[in-house]
Amino acid sequence: MSDVILSEVRDNVALITFNRPEALNAINLEVMDALISTVAKYDADKNIGCIVLAGSEKAFVAGADIKEMVDKSYMEMFLVDKQSDWEKFAATRTPMIAAVSGYALGGGCEIAMMCDMIFASDTAKFGQPEIKLGVIPGWGGTQRLTRAVGKAKAMDMILTGRMMDVDEAERAGLVARIIPADKLLEETMKAASKIANYSTPSVLLGKETVNRAFESSLAEGIKFERRVFYSLFATNDQKEGMEAFAAKRKAQFKNR
Ligand code: CAA
Repeated sequence: MSDVILSEVRDNVALITFNRPEALNAINLEVMDALISTVAKYDADKNIGCIVLAGSEKAFVAGADIKEMVDKSYMEMFLVDKQSDWEKFAATRTPMIAAVSGYALGGGCEIAMMCDMIFASDTAKFGQPEIKLGVIPGWGGTQRLTRAVGKAKAMDMILTGRMMDVDEAERAGLVARIIPADKLLEETMKAASKIANYSTPSVLLGKETVNRAFESSLAEGIKFERRVFYSLFATNDQKEGMEAFAAKRKAQFKNR
């Protein structure tokens, strides 16, 4: 049984930890397959309400495994088209939080950006340094970084290969929260648990509706939001949530 990633469930939150310390958690094919299948397993599990991805203190993930890729030919890359497996990962319905400490470079930054939000420690460093290797980001970095931080900073990062520290990443909109390194996992798990304990239909639809903002015009996005908002009035959890507020008690969501 491979241990390149570790996974465990704490109540209704799944925690997946990259575990290739000798390579700063670089993602080879074994890690990629293990990660994508483990996330798919948790996504299908109705008892899991949030997934957290974490690395070590030194590195979330230092990128795709360069040593594994060095001898690949164009035809191998094109015909196998392994990178498209990330579409499955990015299509995960369950909310995913990346807890980033240390390096999130290349594919590491791209995996963090495929999650729904990034919580980062004060030691986190983000970058797309592929230009130094004679390539460009290949797991969505040119698109997701540009949407997250805008053209000016994305161009700067991708064409110079420089790293962003956590303050710059938070100012630029890449990072949701900065947390001291020794509290990162605890605080991320707390937020994940909070999400996992809300009504699942509203969490799933909230995520889907935010993501719509990246795929549609403002008018279409607003219309989509309104349809989804109305649809939630068909759930028991909407009644429960609003009745609980009026009665000054805690809502007991049943995910129906
Ligand atoms: N692939 C394979 N091995 C890697 C790796 C990577 N992305 N990143 C680090 N490692 C390995 C190193 O080769 C080293 O192994 P050895 O001990 O066997 O020599 C070990 O991890 C420790 O790394 P360093 O000794 O380099 O550690 P450091 O603290 O001196 O430097 C670092 C840290 C700045 C992150 C440096 O390791 C580095 O620059 N790594 C590469 C970052 C990078 O270029 N990432 C992009 C990869 S390409 C990509 O991701 C394409 C894509 O879009 C999908």
